Amino acid sequence: MTYNEAKDKLAKCGQEQLLRHWDELNKSEKAAFLAQIEKTDISVVANYKNKGKNDHKGEIEPLACMERRAINNNRRKYKRIGIEAIREGKIGALLLAGGMGTRLGSDKPKGMYDIGKTKQVFIFQRIIENMLDVVRAAGAWIHLFVMTSEKNNEDTINFLKEKNYFGYDADHVHFYVQDMAPACDYNGKIFLEEKGRMATSPNGNGSWFSSMVSSDMIKTVDAAGIEWLNVFAVDNVLQRIADPLFVGATIASGCTVGAKVVRKAARDEHIGVICLEDGHPSIVEYYELTDELMDAKDENGNWLYNFGVILNYLFSVDQLKAIEEKRLKGEAMPLHVVEKKIPYYDDATGTVVKPEEVNGYKFETLVLDMIRLSKSCLPFEVVRRNEFAPIKNKTGIDSVVSAQELCEKNHIEL
Ligand code: UTP
Repeated sequence: MTYNEAKDKLAKCGQEQLLRHWDELNKSEKAAFLAQIEKTDISVVANYKNKGKNDHKGEIEPLACMERRAINNNRRKYKRIGIEAIREGKIGALLLAGGMGTRLGSDKPKGMYDIGKTKQVFIFQRIIENMLDVVRAAGAWIHLFVMTSEKNNEDTINFLKEKNYFGYDADHVHFYVQDMAPACDYNGKIFLEEKGRMATSPNGNGSWFSSMVSSDMIKTVDAAGIEWLNVFAVDNVLQRIADPLFVGATIASGCTVGAKVVRKAARDEHIGVICLEDGHPSIVEYYELTDELMDAKDENGNWLYNFGVILNYLFSVDQLKAIEEKRLKGEAMPLHVVEKKIPYYDDATGTVVKPEEVNGYKFETLVLDMIRLSKSCLPFEVVRRNEFAPIKNKTGIDSVVSAQELCEKNHIEL
């Protein structure tokens, strides 16, 4: 891309201010800046005004969940189907590790966080140990894909290499980098993070499959004959990955997606609830759940919207490709506009300022919106205290402290 092309691209979105230090850049800085402008989708910033809140919600209805009793009644059958699929190499695992983990407040990738008390127990280690249980039970390695971002890719790869992948087979671990989105101030102007570099942030976990395609990692998935991908968040240190029971139940159900869900802890718990929306599987965020829906019960007195998602989904690869095709045809996933502390280059002082308070917006798509684009979904109940210990904060709810307590209750030495 030439300077004039970059200027045109920016002008179309009202972002020419980004070139204000152009004459101060050296040759290689100029080339890097042009490359960044070329590959970044600047148009997303136009969404800052509506803050993504004008997305229409359709008619919400309950979606039946496979509860523990039904799972236990078919335990042997589901386990057999799941183990077979793993042995045949049809199941891959996909770790979402591109997030910034700002709430936890560590500069390093979240997976490098040590939750140990008497010894080191890193978040990545917990995940891999859980995967190794399944590898041992199935007697087969499972390909583990790790999505990082350009902000944490090097640290993540170096750390896992240095730790010898905590015993996982290196040939079955694959890294790829997700795409970035610009971050802007409250007037919709993109920040500079350096004189020749716009401020960007990972474009949300909803881009995991499109980034897999744009990075060509999908070729590795196809070459390995993987038919299902179990996508999961980095921060739930108790979750079971490629869980044979879940895999088997999803395959047996004939659905194109399985979603692990937990029973809500309170009627208004801050958790996305699985449902049908205009007849499609969907997730309604807690703040979108009206009192009427929150209180709705079936004829036996059970809550109708009682199961929340925990960011652990099993997608058939065919379903993912169909979603990607829809996206390419313009059936875009909703864009979420999130307020954030964005470091920026300050012209007045000539330094990079790391703000104490939120100062602008970042733009993200979310994996949960992929459910809305899927043909069918099996909500699969897991026992919360055994499988849900997310780490978002240092203390309080969903924190290092609460996750440590849950690990100890599950007899995991810390
Ligand atoms: P969170 O929504 O908790 O975001 O991510 P985060 O960036 O890690 O943390 P905060 O909000 O800044 O504190 C849920 C999962 O999605 C991944 C995260 O790594 C985590 O596994 N994620 C999030 C990505 O892979 N890419 C993204 O752009 C955002």
